[in-house]
Amino acid sequence: MGSQPHDGSGHRTAAADRHHSDTTLRVNGKPHTLTVDHRRVLLDLLREDLGLTGAKKGCDHGQCGACTVLVDGRRVNSCLLLAVALDGSEVTTVEGLAGDGEELHPLQRAFLERDAFQCGYCTPGQICSAVGALAEAAAGHPSHVTDPATPSGGPVPLGREEIRERLSGNLCRCGAYPRIAEAVEDVIP
Ligand code: FES
Ligand code: FES
Repeated sequence: MGSQPHDGSGHRTAAADRHHSDTTLRVNGKPHTLTVDHRRVLLDLLREDLGLTGAKKGCDHGQCGACTVLVDGRRVNSCLLLAVALDGSEVTTVEGLAGDGEELHPLQRAFLERDAFQCGYCTPGQICSAVGALAEAAAGHPSHVTDPATPSGGPVPLGREEIRERLSGNLCRCGAYPRIAEAVEDVIP
């Protein structure tokens, strides 16, 4: 149940039928129109159809966070999202975080400098999740451990407990958690 590249003509393709739909996603700044099986999840589309293998398949059940990417700036478990439901969305994977230049994203650099990984399997998901978590805190979204006295609407201060809570959906079988938390602390503005 793969996806076929669309012919770009703007017409419904022969491959688009009641089980497939033409779907356009902007991935790491580039538009892609594909004829997508309705059962295809975003993770498989990214890895198998677009060759972006940064996001990993760990559990395939929304439980490990290895597949975390950003959709319209919010972190998601891409193994749980049907690609056709994301038509028109902006997707950012770990491959797209650094932008056009050679420079790494500050979180990628911090992970390297802090030695915040061992096998590296969870790392792309950890980094995408951290990007999303920092944005959520900056936008004033509370977590389960946020002090209720924190003024609403303003940025939530990110202490170690907040970082651990906000990244608790990203599992690391190597147990690199202390270094991961240090790396995230390094990039807090
Ligand atoms: S592979 Fe998606 S959460 Fe584990
Ligand atoms: S570094 Fe190995 S799973 Fe996290």
